[in-house]
Amino acid sequence: KPAFFQVAIDGPASAGKSTIAKILASQLHFVYVDTGAMYRAVTVAAKKAGLSYGDEAGITALLPTIQIDFEPGQPVQKVFLNGEEVTEAIRSTEVTNNVSLVSSYGAVRSDMVEKQRAMTEKNPVIMDGRDIGTTVLPNAQVKIFLIASVDERAARRYKENKEKGMKVDLETLKDEIKARDYKDSHRAISPLTKAADAIEVDTTGIGIDEVVAKIKKIIEEHQA
Ligand code: CDP
Ligand code: CDP
Repeated sequence: KPAFFQVAIDGPASAGKSTIAKILASQLHFVYVDTGAMYRAVTVAAKKAGLSYGDEAGITALLPTIQIDFEPGQPVQKVFLNGEEVTEAIRSTEVTNNVSLVSSYGAVRSDMVEKQRAMTEKNPVIMDGRDIGTTVLPNAQVKIFLIASVDERAARRYKENKEKGMKVDLETLKDEIKARDYKDSHRAISPLTKAADAIEVDTTGIGIDEVVAKIKKIIEEHQA
């Protein structure tokens, strides 16, 4: 078992992974690692370098020049790409719709996985993503697979976008989420799948506080 406690939270887009992981990390004093933000930052780096998202060789060559840093903060953790803040840029619709392609490249995945594992060496962590329980932290003490219906997840994204003043229609969001789920679940390297020893938590119709309490209880049971 790992020296420092590890919680892996995987699941499809908008299941509530980052919301839940952030709250748990602050309550338990664990480090929160948002692996999706890392793949998003690589996507932004590709754009800044003038590469097309389909240019696997170009993006692979770019990897050694990419430095990603997190600055913990509430309610949002800041994300930096080579020292420049990209907290907002990584959430753009363009990045959201191209990140699944960029994150399907073998070199991108192995580079990110190495960086993610390095973050577990000195602190207990809560890490969220798609392949944490299956690939990044296969020995994690607690593995959660968070799900919710597509309708509920699209409705959550809709509400989020509306609050940010973005105008997107619900059906479009539903289609985008379905497309990303499909790509993430069907790629060749470490696709989104539930680890054999993961505990599935369905958050459809369940509030954030209740989900947090449920997972906190599971973690505490494993810490004892
Ligand atoms: O928050 P949201 O559900 O929109 O996604 P995210 O966690 O920010 O991840 C964005 C994308 O990065 C996912 O759709 C995956 O394509 C990719 N990703 C991945 O391949 N592996 C991970 N461990 C995390 C994210
Ligand atoms: O990280 P992931 O893409 O899995 O989802 P998220 O960004 O944490 O959550 C998407 C949205 O769903 C956020 O606006 C959360 O506030 C909301 N949410 C919710 O309404 N109920 C839950 N049980 C969990 C999240």
